[in-house]
Amino acid sequence: MSEQQALAETPAISEQLIELAKRRGYFFAASEIYGGVGGFYTFGPQGAALKGNVEDAWRDRFALEEGNMEIDAPTIMPEPVFESSGHLEGFDDMLIECSECGESTRADHLVEDNTGIEEAEGLPIEEVEEIVAEHELACPACGAGLAGVAIDDFNLMFATNIGPGDSQPGYLRPETAQGIFVEFPRLKEYARNTLPFGVTQIGRAYRNEISPRRSIIRTREFTQAELEFFIDPDADEPVLSDVEDVPVTLYPVTEQQKDDGEYVETTIGEAVESGTIADPWIGYFLGITQEWYATIGVDMGRFRFRQHLAGERAHYASDCWDAESEIDGNWIEIAGFAHRGDYDLSKHAEGSGERFTVFRQYDEPKTVEQATVDPDMSYLGPEFGGEAGTVVDGLEALAQTDRSAFEGETVAVDAGGDTHEIPVTKTGFEVTEETVAGEHIVPEVIEPSFGVDRLVYTLLHHAYREDEVDGEARTYLALEPEVAPTFAGVFPLQSDAELEATATEIAGELRAAGHSVTYDDSGNIGRRYRRQDEVGTPFCVTVDYESLEDDAVTVRERDTTGQKRLAIDDLAETLTALRAGEVAFEDLEG
Ligand code: GAP
Repeated sequence: MSEQQALAETPAISEQLIELAKRRGYFFAASEIYGGVGGFYTFGPQGAALKGNVEDAWRDRFALEEGNMEIDAPTIMPEPVFESSGHLEGFDDMLIECSECGESTRADHLVEDNTGIEEAEGLPIEEVEEIVAEHELACPACGAGLAGVAIDDFNLMFATNIGPGDSQPGYLRPETAQGIFVEFPRLKEYARNTLPFGVTQIGRAYRNEISPRRSIIRTREFTQAELEFFIDPDADEPVLSDVEDVPVTLYPVTEQQKDDGEYVETTIGEAVESGTIADPWIGYFLGITQEWYATIGVDMGRFRFRQHLAGERAHYASDCWDAESEIDGNWIEIAGFAHRGDYDLSKHAEGSGERFTVFRQYDEPKTVEQATVDPDMSYLGPEFGGEAGTVVDGLEALAQTDRSAFEGETVAVDAGGDTHEIPVTKTGFEVTEETVAGEHIVPEVIEPSFGVDRLVYTLLHHAYREDEVDGEARTYLALEPEVAPTFAGVFPLQSDAELEATATEIAGELRAAGHSVTYDDSGNIGRRYRRQDEVGTPFCVTVDYESLEDDAVTVRERDTTGQKRLAIDDLAETLTALRAGEVAFEDLEG
Protein backbone atom coordinates (compact mmCIF):
# COMPACT_ATOMS: atom_id res chain seq x y z
CA MET A 1 0.00 0.00 0.00
CA SER A 2 1.44 3.39 -0.90
CA GLU A 3 1.08 6.44 1.34
CA GLN A 4 -1.28 8.16 -1.14
CA GLN A 5 -3.58 5.13 -1.32
CA ALA A 6 -3.97 5.06 2.44
CA LEU A 7 -4.76 8.75 2.63
CA ALA A 8 -7.40 8.77 -0.07
CA GLU A 9 -9.70 6.17 1.48
CA THR A 10 -11.38 7.84 4.45
CA PRO A 11 -13.88 10.71 4.28
CA ALA A 12 -13.09 13.88 6.29
CA ILE A 13 -15.28 14.04 9.37
CA SER A 14 -13.43 16.40 11.73
CA GLU A 15 -16.08 19.10 11.46
CA GLN A 16 -18.92 16.75 12.42
CA LEU A 17 -16.82 15.18 15.16
CA ILE A 18 -15.84 18.49 16.73
CA GLU A 19 -19.48 19.59 16.72
CA LEU A 20 -20.51 16.29 18.32
CA ALA A 21 -17.69 16.60 20.87
CA LYS A 22 -18.96 20.02 21.94
CA ARG A 23 -22.64 19.08 22.01
CA ARG A 24 -22.20 15.79 23.83
CA GLY A 25 -19.54 16.84 26.34
CA TYR A 26 -16.37 15.31 24.92
CA PHE A 27 -14.27 18.45 24.60
CA PHE A 28 -14.58 22.13 23.84
CA ALA A 29 -12.45 25.30 23.81
CA ALA A 30 -11.71 26.44 27.38
CA SER A 31 -12.71 29.76 29.00
CA GLU A 32 -14.96 30.66 26.10
CA ILE A 33 -17.02 33.06 28.23
CA TYR A 34 -13.98 35.36 28.14
CA GLY A 35 -13.32 34.75 24.47
CA GLY A 36 -11.11 31.70 25.03
CA VAL A 37 -7.48 31.42 24.11
CA GLY A 38 -5.99 29.17 21.44
CA GLY A 39 -4.57 25.80 22.44
CA PHE A 40 -6.50 25.16 25.66
CA TYR A 41 -9.39 22.69 25.83
CA THR A 42 -11.68 21.39 28.54
CA PHE A 43 -12.67 17.76 28.47
CA GLY A 44 -16.36 17.56 29.35
CA PRO A 45 -17.97 14.71 31.30
CA GLN A 46 -17.75 12.18 28.45
CA GLY A 47 -14.29 13.31 27.37
CA ALA A 48 -12.83 13.26 30.87
CA ALA A 49 -14.20 9.74 31.37
CA LEU A 50 -12.85 8.54 28.02
CA LYS A 51 -9.46 10.11 28.71
CA GLY A 52 -9.41 8.59 32.21
CA ASN A 53 -10.22 5.15 30.78
CA VAL A 54 -7.44 5.49 28.19
CA GLU A 55 -4.98 6.48 30.94
CA ASP A 56 -6.09 3.52 33.08
CA ALA A 57 -5.68 1.15 30.12
CA TRP A 58 -2.20 2.59 29.44
CA ARG A 59 -1.25 2.19 33.11
CA ASP A 60 -2.48 -1.43 33.07
CA ARG A 61 -0.40 -2.26 30.00
CA PHE A 62 2.77 -0.18 30.34
CA ALA A 63 3.18 0.06 34.12
CA LEU A 64 1.42 -2.87 35.79
CA GLU A 65 1.70 -5.61 33.16
CA GLU A 66 5.30 -4.72 32.35
CA GLY A 67 6.24 -4.46 36.04
CA ASN A 68 7.29 -0.80 35.78
CA MET A 69 6.99 1.81 38.53
CA GLU A 70 4.79 4.91 38.29
CA ILE A 71 5.60 8.32 39.75
CA ASP A 72 3.84 11.67 39.94
CA ALA A 73 6.27 14.61 39.80
CA PRO A 74 5.60 18.39 39.88
CA THR A 75 4.72 20.15 36.64
CA ILE A 76 6.82 23.24 37.50
CA MET A 77 10.55 22.62 37.70
CA PRO A 78 13.49 24.96 38.43
CA GLU A 79 15.70 26.39 35.70
CA PRO A 80 18.77 24.15 36.20
CA VAL A 81 16.67 21.12 35.16
CA PHE A 82 16.16 22.60 31.72
CA GLU A 83 19.71 23.96 31.45
CA SER A 84 20.91 20.37 31.82
CA SER A 85 18.21 18.76 29.69
CA GLY A 86 18.94 21.09 26.76
CA HIS A 87 15.40 22.53 26.63
CA LEU A 88 16.52 26.09 27.45
CA GLU A 89 19.02 26.02 24.66
CA GLY A 90 17.27 24.07 21.96
CA PHE A 91 13.54 23.46 22.50
CA ASP A 92 12.60 25.88 19.76
CA ASP A 93 10.22 26.15 16.83
CA MET A 94 10.65 28.41 13.82
CA LEU A 95 8.67 31.62 14.18
CA ILE A 96 7.81 33.95 11.31
CA GLU A 97 5.98 37.15 12.21
CA CYS A 98 4.00 39.04 9.59
CA SER A 99 5.26 42.62 9.31
CA GLU A 100 1.81 43.80 8.16
CA CYS A 101 -0.57 42.34 10.77
CA GLY A 102 1.80 40.88 13.39
CA GLU A 103 0.39 37.34 13.08
CA SER A 104 2.85 34.68 14.35
CA THR A 105 3.09 31.51 12.30
CA ARG A 106 5.19 28.38 12.57
CA ALA A 107 7.43 28.67 9.52
CA ASP A 108 7.94 24.93 9.00
CA HIS A 109 4.17 24.36 9.05
CA LEU A 110 3.65 27.20 6.59
CA VAL A 111 6.10 25.47 4.26
CA GLU A 112 4.58 22.00 4.74
CA ASP A 113 1.03 23.27 4.21
CA ASN A 114 1.80 25.24 1.05
CA THR A 115 4.62 23.59 -0.85
CA GLY A 116 4.21 19.83 -0.67
CA ILE A 117 7.51 19.66 1.24
CA GLU A 118 7.16 17.17 4.10
CA GLU A 119 8.92 17.38 7.45
CA ALA A 120 10.29 20.93 7.12
CA GLU A 121 10.88 20.91 10.91
CA GLY A 122 14.36 19.48 10.50
CA LEU A 123 15.55 22.00 7.91
CA PRO A 124 17.99 24.83 8.80
CA ILE A 125 16.35 28.25 9.26
CA GLU A 126 18.16 29.79 6.26
CA GLU A 127 16.79 27.05 4.00
CA VAL A 128 13.23 27.64 5.25
CA GLU A 129 13.66 31.39 4.62
CA GLU A 130 14.72 30.60 1.06
CA ILE A 131 11.71 28.30 0.53
CA VAL A 132 9.34 30.99 1.85
CA ALA A 133 10.79 33.48 -0.64
CA GLU A 134 10.97 31.04 -3.56
CA HIS A 135 7.34 29.93 -3.16
CA GLU A 136 6.16 33.48 -2.37
CA LEU A 137 4.41 32.26 0.75
CA ALA A 138 1.97 34.64 2.40
CA CYS A 139 0.70 35.34 5.92
CA PRO A 140 -2.26 32.99 6.61
CA ALA A 141 -4.07 35.81 8.47
CA CYS A 142 -3.81 38.84 6.14
CA GLY A 143 -2.28 37.47 2.93
CA ALA A 144 0.78 39.79 2.99
CA GLY A 145 3.88 38.28 1.39
CA LEU A 146 6.45 36.85 3.81
CA ALA A 147 9.45 36.76 1.46
CA GLY A 148 12.44 38.39 3.11
CA VAL A 149 10.96 38.23 6.63
CA ALA A 150 13.53 36.79 9.09
CA ILE A 151 12.62 33.56 10.86
CA ASP A 152 13.47 33.35 14.56
CA ASP A 153 13.93 30.51 17.02
CA PHE A 154 11.10 30.59 19.55
CA ASN A 155 11.52 28.65 22.80
CA LEU A 156 8.36 26.68 23.56
CA MET A 157 8.63 26.59 27.33
CA PHE A 158 6.27 28.58 29.55
CA ALA A 159 8.41 30.54 32.02
CA THR A 160 7.34 31.53 35.51
CA ASN A 161 8.83 32.79 38.78
CA ILE A 162 8.90 30.51 41.77
CA GLY A 163 8.01 32.48 44.91
CA PRO A 164 7.99 36.29 45.10
CA GLY A 165 10.43 38.24 42.96
CA ASP A 166 12.35 36.85 40.04
CA SER A 167 15.33 35.29 41.75
CA GLN A 168 14.16 31.74 41.10
CA PRO A 169 12.96 31.21 37.56
CA GLY A 170 11.02 28.06 36.81
CA TYR A 171 9.32 26.48 33.81
CA LEU A 172 6.24 24.41 33.23
CA ARG A 173 7.61 21.08 32.12
CA PRO A 174 7.48 20.56 28.35
CA GLU A 175 7.56 16.76 28.79
CA THR A 176 6.86 14.50 31.77
CA ALA A 177 10.15 12.71 31.13
CA GLN A 178 12.31 15.26 32.99
CA GLY A 179 10.39 14.58 36.21
CA ILE A 180 11.60 10.99 35.96
CA PHE A 181 15.21 11.71 34.97
CA VAL A 182 15.89 14.16 37.80
CA GLU A 183 14.71 11.61 40.38
CA PHE A 184 16.89 8.81 38.96
CA PRO A 185 19.32 8.66 41.93
CA ARG A 186 16.39 7.81 44.23
CA LEU A 187 14.45 5.70 41.73
CA LYS A 188 17.40 3.38 41.12
CA GLU A 189 17.41 2.67 44.88
CA TYR A 190 13.74 1.63 44.68
CA ALA A 191 14.72 -0.65 41.81
CA ARG A 192 17.38 -2.13 44.14
CA ASN A 193 20.11 -0.82 41.83
CA THR A 194 19.23 -3.48 39.29
CA LEU A 195 18.82 -2.91 35.59
CA PRO A 196 16.69 -3.02 33.55
CA PHE A 197 13.84 -1.12 35.16
CA GLY A 198 11.18 1.23 33.93
CA VAL A 199 9.48 4.30 35.37
CA THR A 200 6.21 5.68 34.02
CA GLN A 201 4.40 8.93 34.49
CA ILE A 202 1.03 10.16 33.24
CA GLY A 203 0.61 13.90 33.53
CA ARG A 204 0.34 17.33 32.01
CA ALA A 205 2.98 18.87 29.76
CA TYR A 206 3.03 22.45 28.50
CA ARG A 207 4.31 23.93 25.26
CA ASN A 208 3.73 27.49 24.16
CA GLU A 209 2.95 26.37 20.61
CA ILE A 210 3.24 29.20 18.05
CA SER A 211 0.10 28.16 16.25
CA PRO A 212 -1.98 25.58 18.10
CA ARG A 213 -4.27 23.88 15.62
CA ARG A 214 -6.49 21.03 14.65
CA SER A 215 -8.56 21.03 17.79
CA ILE A 216 -6.94 18.89 20.52
CA ILE A 217 -4.16 17.65 18.25
CA ARG A 218 -1.80 20.56 18.91
CA THR A 219 -2.55 22.29 22.17
CA ARG A 220 -0.55 24.29 24.70
CA GLU A 221 -1.45 22.08 27.64
CA PHE A 222 -1.79 18.36 27.08
CA THR A 223 -1.34 15.00 28.76
CA GLN A 224 1.51 12.64 28.14
CA ALA A 225 1.95 9.04 29.26
CA GLU A 226 5.66 8.31 29.20
CA LEU A 227 7.83 5.34 30.04
CA GLU A 228 11.55 5.76 30.64
CA PHE A 229 13.08 2.31 30.46
CA PHE A 230 16.64 2.15 31.83
CA ILE A 231 18.93 -0.54 30.45
CA ASP A 232 22.49 -1.75 30.57
CA PRO A 233 23.23 -1.67 26.82
CA ASP A 234 25.83 -4.45 27.10
CA ALA A 235 23.73 -6.84 29.13
CA ASP A 236 19.98 -6.31 28.77
CA GLU A 237 17.84 -7.67 25.97
CA PRO A 238 14.07 -7.55 25.52
CA VAL A 239 11.95 -10.72 25.40
CA LEU A 240 11.37 -10.34 21.68
CA SER A 241 9.61 -13.71 21.47
CA ASP A 242 6.62 -12.00 23.16
CA VAL A 243 6.10 -9.73 20.14
CA GLU A 244 7.99 -11.31 17.23
CA ASP A 245 4.80 -12.34 15.38
CA VAL A 246 3.04 -9.01 15.78
CA PRO A 247 2.28 -7.66 12.28
CA VAL A 248 3.25 -4.03 11.69
CA THR A 249 3.11 -1.45 8.91
CA LEU A 250 6.45 0.36 8.82
CA TYR A 251 7.51 3.41 6.86
CA PRO A 252 11.30 3.43 7.24
CA VAL A 253 13.63 6.24 6.16
CA THR A 254 14.74 4.29 3.07
CA GLU A 255 11.15 4.22 1.73
CA GLN A 256 10.44 7.86 2.68
CA GLN A 257 13.41 8.93 0.58
CA LYS A 258 11.95 7.35 -2.58
CA ASP A 259 9.42 9.15 -4.79
CA ASP A 260 7.14 6.12 -4.77
CA GLY A 261 7.99 4.89 -1.27
CA GLU A 262 6.00 1.87 -0.08
CA TYR A 263 5.08 0.70 3.36
CA VAL A 264 6.85 -2.38 4.64
CA GLU A 265 4.27 -4.91 5.83
CA THR A 266 6.21 -7.16 8.16
CA THR A 267 6.38 -8.55 11.69
CA ILE A 268 8.39 -7.19 14.59
CA GLY A 269 10.59 -10.30 14.52
CA GLU A 270 11.43 -9.89 10.83
CA ALA A 271 11.92 -6.12 11.12
CA VAL A 272 14.45 -6.49 13.93
CA GLU A 273 16.17 -9.42 12.19
CA SER A 274 16.53 -7.45 8.93
CA GLY A 275 17.69 -4.30 10.74
CA THR A 276 14.71 -2.23 9.54
CA ILE A 277 14.17 -1.59 13.23
CA ALA A 278 17.75 -1.17 14.40
CA ASP A 279 17.23 -1.54 18.12
CA PRO A 280 15.51 -4.64 19.57
CA TRP A 281 14.17 -2.61 22.53
CA ILE A 282 12.45 -0.20 20.15
CA GLY A 283 11.10 -3.27 18.32
CA TYR A 284 9.75 -4.67 21.58
CA PHE A 285 7.91 -1.48 22.50
CA LEU A 286 6.53 -1.00 18.97
CA GLY A 287 5.16 -4.55 19.23
CA ILE A 288 3.33 -4.11 22.52
CA THR A 289 2.10 -0.69 21.42
CA GLN A 290 0.64 -2.06 18.19
CA GLU A 291 -1.26 -4.72 20.14
CA TRP A 292 -2.44 -2.28 22.80
CA TYR A 293 -3.66 0.31 20.31
CA ALA A 294 -5.68 -2.40 18.53
CA THR A 295 -7.39 -3.48 21.77
CA ILE A 296 -8.45 0.05 22.69
CA GLY A 297 -9.82 0.87 19.24
CA VAL A 298 -7.20 2.43 16.96
CA ASP A 299 -8.11 1.31 13.42
CA MET A 300 -5.03 -0.63 12.35
CA GLY A 301 -5.89 0.01 8.69
CA ARG A 302 -5.27 3.70 9.41
CA PHE A 303 -2.09 3.34 11.42
CA ARG A 304 1.65 3.09 10.75
CA PHE A 305 5.02 3.40 12.42
CA ARG A 306 7.21 5.98 10.67
CA GLN A 307 10.94 6.26 11.27
CA HIS A 308 12.32 9.77 11.87
CA LEU A 309 14.46 11.26 9.14
CA ALA A 310 17.92 12.26 10.41
CA GLY A 311 17.10 16.01 10.54
CA GLU A 312 13.88 15.36 12.47
CA ARG A 313 15.37 13.47 15.37
CA ALA A 314 15.47 15.17 18.76
CA HIS A 315 18.90 16.28 19.97
CA TYR A 316 19.14 13.27 22.30
CA ALA A 317 17.83 10.46 20.10
CA SER A 318 19.90 7.93 18.15
CA ASP A 319 16.91 6.17 16.56
CA CYS A 320 13.33 7.27 16.68
CA TRP A 321 9.99 6.01 15.36
CA ASP A 322 6.59 7.64 15.56
CA ALA A 323 3.25 5.91 15.86
CA GLU A 324 0.98 7.74 13.42
CA SER A 325 -2.76 7.58 12.91
CA GLU A 326 -4.61 8.80 9.87
CA ILE A 327 -7.11 11.57 10.48
CA ASP A 328 -8.95 13.23 7.59
CA GLY A 329 -6.18 12.32 5.19
CA ASN A 330 -3.33 13.51 7.41
CA TRP A 331 -0.90 11.44 9.38
CA ILE A 332 -0.77 12.53 13.02
CA GLU A 333 2.00 11.59 15.43
CA ILE A 334 0.32 10.00 18.44
CA ALA A 335 3.42 8.54 20.14
CA GLY A 336 7.19 8.64 19.77
CA PHE A 337 9.72 5.90 20.51
CA ALA A 338 13.26 7.12 21.03
CA HIS A 339 16.56 5.58 22.00
CA ARG A 340 17.84 8.44 24.18
CA GLY A 341 21.18 6.77 24.98
CA ASP A 342 22.73 8.04 28.21
CA TYR A 343 22.17 11.68 27.20
CA ASP A 344 19.70 12.68 29.92
CA LEU A 345 21.32 10.90 32.84
CA SER A 346 24.80 12.13 31.90
CA LYS A 347 23.59 15.70 31.52
CA HIS A 348 21.82 15.69 34.89
CA ALA A 349 24.86 14.07 36.51
CA GLU A 350 27.02 16.84 35.10
CA GLY A 351 24.56 19.58 36.07
CA SER A 352 23.81 18.38 39.59
CA GLY A 353 27.05 16.68 40.60
CA GLU A 354 24.96 13.68 41.75
CA ARG A 355 25.62 10.05 40.88
CA PHE A 356 23.53 8.77 37.98
CA THR A 357 25.23 5.40 37.71
CA VAL A 358 24.25 1.83 38.49
CA PHE A 359 26.76 -0.79 39.61
CA ARG A 360 27.23 -3.53 37.01
CA GLN A 361 28.34 -6.70 38.82
CA TYR A 362 30.69 -8.95 36.81
CA ASP A 363 29.83 -12.67 36.62
CA GLU A 364 33.29 -13.35 38.07
CA PRO A 365 35.49 -10.80 39.88
CA LYS A 366 38.24 -9.52 37.58
CA THR A 367 41.85 -8.67 38.30
CA VAL A 368 42.60 -5.34 36.71
CA GLU A 369 45.66 -3.15 36.54
CA GLN A 370 45.14 0.25 38.09
CA ALA A 371 47.36 3.19 37.13
CA THR A 372 47.53 5.89 39.82
CA VAL A 373 49.55 9.00 40.64
CA ASP A 374 50.52 10.39 44.03
CA PRO A 375 52.23 13.67 43.09
CA ASP A 376 54.90 15.19 45.31
CA MET A 377 53.20 18.43 46.36
CA SER A 378 56.41 19.77 47.97
CA TYR A 379 57.68 19.93 44.40
CA LEU A 380 54.47 20.87 42.50
CA GLY A 381 53.36 23.54 45.01
CA PRO A 382 56.40 25.86 44.77
CA GLU A 383 56.80 25.06 41.05
CA PHE A 384 53.20 25.81 39.90
CA GLY A 385 51.57 27.80 42.71
CA GLY A 386 47.81 28.21 42.03
CA GLU A 387 48.09 25.96 38.94
CA ALA A 388 49.27 22.94 40.99
CA GLY A 389 45.74 21.49 41.37
CA THR A 390 45.18 21.63 37.59
CA VAL A 391 48.51 19.89 37.02
CA VAL A 392 47.47 17.11 39.44
CA ASP A 393 44.16 16.71 37.58
CA GLY A 394 46.10 16.49 34.32
CA LEU A 395 48.43 13.83 35.72
CA GLU A 396 45.50 11.77 37.02
CA ALA A 397 43.71 11.92 33.68
CA LEU A 398 46.89 10.98 31.83
CA ALA A 399 47.49 7.97 34.11
CA GLN A 400 44.00 6.71 33.17
CA THR A 401 44.30 7.29 29.44
CA ASP A 402 47.98 6.96 28.49
CA ARG A 403 50.35 5.05 30.74
CA SER A 404 53.11 5.19 28.15
CA ALA A 405 53.40 8.93 28.85
CA PHE A 406 55.13 8.00 32.12
CA GLU A 407 57.78 5.76 30.51
CA GLY A 408 60.45 8.46 30.02
CA GLU A 409 62.24 10.72 32.52
CA THR A 410 59.59 13.44 32.27
CA VAL A 411 55.91 13.50 31.51
CA ALA A 412 54.18 16.27 29.49
CA VAL A 413 51.00 17.66 31.08
CA ASP A 414 48.65 20.26 29.61
CA ALA A 415 47.44 22.71 32.26
CA GLY A 416 46.35 26.35 32.19
CA GLY A 417 46.85 26.50 28.42
CA ASP A 418 50.55 25.45 28.62
CA THR A 419 52.37 22.14 28.44
CA HIS A 420 54.59 21.39 31.44
CA GLU A 421 57.33 18.80 31.67
CA ILE A 422 57.24 17.10 35.11
CA PRO A 423 59.91 14.63 36.30
CA VAL A 424 58.23 11.22 36.49
CA THR A 425 59.86 10.65 39.92
CA LYS A 426 57.73 13.55 41.27
CA THR A 427 54.42 12.08 40.00
CA GLY A 428 54.22 8.99 42.25
CA PHE A 429 53.07 7.05 39.17
CA GLU A 430 52.34 3.42 39.99
CA VAL A 431 50.57 0.46 38.37
CA THR A 432 48.99 -1.93 40.83
CA GLU A 433 46.74 -4.97 40.48
CA GLU A 434 43.29 -4.91 42.00
CA THR A 435 40.38 -7.36 42.16
CA VAL A 436 37.12 -5.68 41.19
CA ALA A 437 33.60 -7.07 41.42
CA GLY A 438 32.06 -4.77 38.81
CA GLU A 439 31.90 -1.24 37.47
CA HIS A 440 29.63 1.82 37.63
CA ILE A 441 27.81 2.51 34.38
CA VAL A 442 25.42 5.22 33.23
CA PRO A 443 22.31 3.39 31.99
CA GLU A 444 20.82 4.08 28.57
CA VAL A 445 17.19 4.98 28.12
CA ILE A 446 14.49 3.73 25.76
CA GLU A 447 11.49 6.01 25.76
CA PRO A 448 7.98 5.28 24.54
CA SER A 449 6.17 8.62 24.82
CA PHE A 450 2.40 8.77 24.25
CA GLY A 451 0.21 11.81 23.71
CA VAL A 452 -3.08 11.06 25.46
CA ASP A 453 -5.15 13.85 23.87
CA ARG A 454 -4.14 12.85 20.35
CA LEU A 455 -4.95 9.25 21.15
CA VAL A 456 -8.39 10.24 22.46
CA TYR A 457 -8.95 12.22 19.25
CA THR A 458 -7.87 9.24 17.16
CA LEU A 459 -10.19 6.88 19.03
CA LEU A 460 -13.14 9.22 18.46
CA HIS A 461 -12.25 9.69 14.80
CA HIS A 462 -11.75 6.02 14.12
CA ALA A 463 -14.98 5.16 15.98
CA TYR A 464 -17.17 7.71 14.18
CA ARG A 465 -19.91 6.04 12.09
CA GLU A 466 -22.98 7.13 10.19
CA ASP A 467 -25.73 4.66 9.17
CA GLU A 468 -29.49 4.29 9.00
CA VAL A 469 -31.70 2.58 11.55
CA ASP A 470 -35.40 2.03 10.81
CA GLY A 471 -35.17 4.51 7.95
CA GLU A 472 -33.61 7.20 10.15
CA ALA A 473 -30.07 8.57 9.87
CA ARG A 474 -27.95 7.70 12.89
CA THR A 475 -24.52 8.82 14.09
CA TYR A 476 -22.71 6.62 16.55
CA LEU A 477 -19.29 6.10 18.06
CA ALA A 478 -18.16 2.48 17.91
CA LEU A 479 -15.87 2.89 20.93
CA GLU A 480 -14.38 -0.22 22.50
CA PRO A 481 -16.26 -1.16 25.70
CA GLU A 482 -12.98 -0.99 27.66
CA VAL A 483 -12.66 2.75 27.07
CA ALA A 484 -16.24 3.91 26.34
CA PRO A 485 -17.00 6.69 28.85
CA THR A 486 -20.48 5.39 29.57
CA PHE A 487 -20.73 1.63 29.52
CA ALA A 488 -24.49 1.22 29.83
CA GLY A 489 -27.63 3.30 29.62
CA VAL A 490 -30.52 2.15 31.80
CA PHE A 491 -34.06 3.22 30.87
CA PRO A 492 -37.56 2.66 32.14
CA LEU A 493 -39.66 2.07 28.99
CA GLN A 494 -42.25 4.65 30.06
CA SER A 495 -42.93 7.13 32.79
CA ASP A 496 -44.22 4.70 35.42
CA ALA A 497 -43.29 4.55 39.11
CA GLU A 498 -42.76 0.78 39.14
CA LEU A 499 -40.64 0.73 35.99
CA GLU A 500 -38.64 3.72 37.24
CA ALA A 501 -38.01 2.10 40.62
CA THR A 502 -36.79 -1.14 39.00
CA ALA A 503 -34.62 0.73 36.49
CA THR A 504 -33.12 2.89 39.25
CA GLU A 505 -32.34 -0.23 41.27
CA ILE A 506 -30.68 -1.91 38.26
CA ALA A 507 -28.62 1.23 37.55
CA GLY A 508 -27.42 1.20 41.18
CA GLU A 509 -26.47 -2.47 41.02
CA LEU A 510 -24.52 -1.99 37.81
CA ARG A 511 -22.68 1.00 39.28
CA ALA A 512 -21.87 -1.04 42.39
CA ALA A 513 -20.39 -3.68 40.06
CA GLY A 514 -18.00 -1.01 38.74
CA HIS A 515 -19.79 0.03 35.55
CA SER A 516 -20.23 3.59 34.40
CA VAL A 517 -23.99 3.88 33.96
CA THR A 518 -26.33 6.63 32.90
CA TYR A 519 -30.01 6.60 33.84
CA ASP A 520 -32.29 8.23 31.30
CA ASP A 521 -36.07 8.56 31.42
CA SER A 522 -36.55 11.55 29.12
CA GLY A 523 -38.05 11.36 25.66
CA ASN A 524 -39.12 8.31 23.71
CA ILE A 525 -37.00 5.19 23.76
CA GLY A 526 -35.74 5.72 20.21
CA ARG A 527 -34.35 9.14 21.11
CA ARG A 528 -32.71 7.73 24.22
CA TYR A 529 -31.00 5.06 22.11
CA ARG A 530 -29.78 7.72 19.65
CA ARG A 531 -28.36 9.83 22.49
CA GLN A 532 -26.38 6.90 23.85
CA ASP A 533 -25.29 5.82 20.34
CA GLU A 534 -23.91 9.29 19.75
CA VAL A 535 -21.69 9.18 22.83
CA GLY A 536 -20.66 5.59 22.12
CA THR A 537 -22.41 3.73 24.96
CA PRO A 538 -22.03 0.04 24.05
CA PHE A 539 -25.18 -1.30 25.79
CA CYS A 540 -28.62 -0.02 26.71
CA VAL A 541 -30.86 -1.78 29.21
CA THR A 542 -34.61 -1.22 29.04
CA VAL A 543 -37.02 -2.12 31.81
CA ASP A 544 -40.54 -2.80 30.47
CA TYR A 545 -43.78 -4.13 31.95
CA GLU A 546 -42.74 -7.71 31.20
CA SER A 547 -39.64 -7.15 33.37
CA LEU A 548 -41.92 -6.87 36.39
CA GLU A 549 -43.20 -10.39 35.57
CA ASP A 550 -40.16 -12.27 34.23
CA ASP A 551 -37.30 -10.46 36.05
CA ALA A 552 -35.57 -9.90 32.71
CA VAL A 553 -34.66 -6.80 30.69
CA THR A 554 -34.01 -5.97 27.05
CA VAL A 555 -30.33 -5.33 26.39
CA ARG A 556 -29.47 -3.61 23.11
CA GLU A 557 -26.03 -3.61 21.55
CA ARG A 558 -24.94 -0.30 19.99
CA ASP A 559 -23.29 -1.27 16.69
CA THR A 560 -25.71 -3.95 15.46
CA THR A 561 -28.76 -2.61 17.40
CA GLY A 562 -29.40 -6.32 18.12
CA GLN A 563 -31.43 -7.04 21.26
CA LYS A 564 -31.43 -9.87 23.85
CA ARG A 565 -33.62 -10.59 26.82
CA LEU A 566 -31.33 -11.13 29.84
CA ALA A 567 -32.10 -12.06 33.47
CA ILE A 568 -31.78 -9.13 35.90
CA ASP A 569 -30.03 -11.36 38.45
CA ASP A 570 -27.16 -12.11 36.03
CA LEU A 571 -27.05 -8.69 34.39
CA ALA A 572 -24.06 -7.19 36.23
CA GLU A 573 -22.01 -10.34 35.72
CA THR A 574 -22.94 -10.61 32.03
CA LEU A 575 -22.06 -6.98 31.37
CA THR A 576 -18.75 -7.40 33.20
CA ALA A 577 -17.93 -10.37 30.93
CA LEU A 578 -18.95 -8.35 27.85
CA ARG A 579 -16.72 -5.45 28.93
CA ALA A 580 -13.77 -7.75 29.47
CA GLY A 581 -14.36 -9.33 26.06
CA GLU A 582 -14.89 -12.76 27.66
CA VAL A 583 -18.18 -13.23 25.78
CA ALA A 584 -19.60 -11.78 22.59
CA PHE A 585 -23.07 -10.22 22.60
CA GLU A 586 -24.21 -12.37 19.67
CA ASP A 587 -23.26 -15.55 21.60
CA LEU A 588 -25.45 -14.72 24.60
CA GLU A 589 -28.62 -16.79 25.12
CA GLY A 590 -31.72 -14.67 25.16
N1 GAP B 1 9.59 12.94 25.99
C1 GAP B 1 9.54 12.89 24.58
C2 GAP B 1 8.54 13.80 24.00
O1 GAP B 1 7.96 14.62 24.69
P1 GAP B 1 7.36 14.43 21.78
O2 GAP B 1 7.34 13.72 20.46
O3 GAP B 1 7.71 15.86 21.81
O4 GAP B 1 8.33 13.58 22.70
C3 GAP B 1 5.39 12.99 22.71
O5 GAP B 1 5.93 14.26 22.48
C4 GAP B 1 3.93 12.97 22.34
O6 GAP B 1 3.24 14.03 23.00
C5 GAP B 1 3.67 13.18 20.86
O7 GAP B 1 3.77 11.97 20.14
C6 GAP B 1 2.26 13.73 20.85
O8 GAP B 1 1.34 12.65 20.87
C7 GAP B 1 2.17 14.48 22.16
N2 GAP B 1 2.30 15.94 21.94
C8 GAP B 1 3.42 16.64 21.72
N3 GAP B 1 3.15 17.95 21.56
C9 GAP B 1 1.81 18.08 21.67
C10 GAP B 1 0.88 19.19 21.61
N4 GAP B 1 1.32 20.44 21.43
N5 GAP B 1 -0.43 18.94 21.77
C11 GAP B 1 -0.90 17.69 21.99
N6 GAP B 1 -0.08 16.61 22.06
C12 GAP B 1 1.25 16.79 21.91
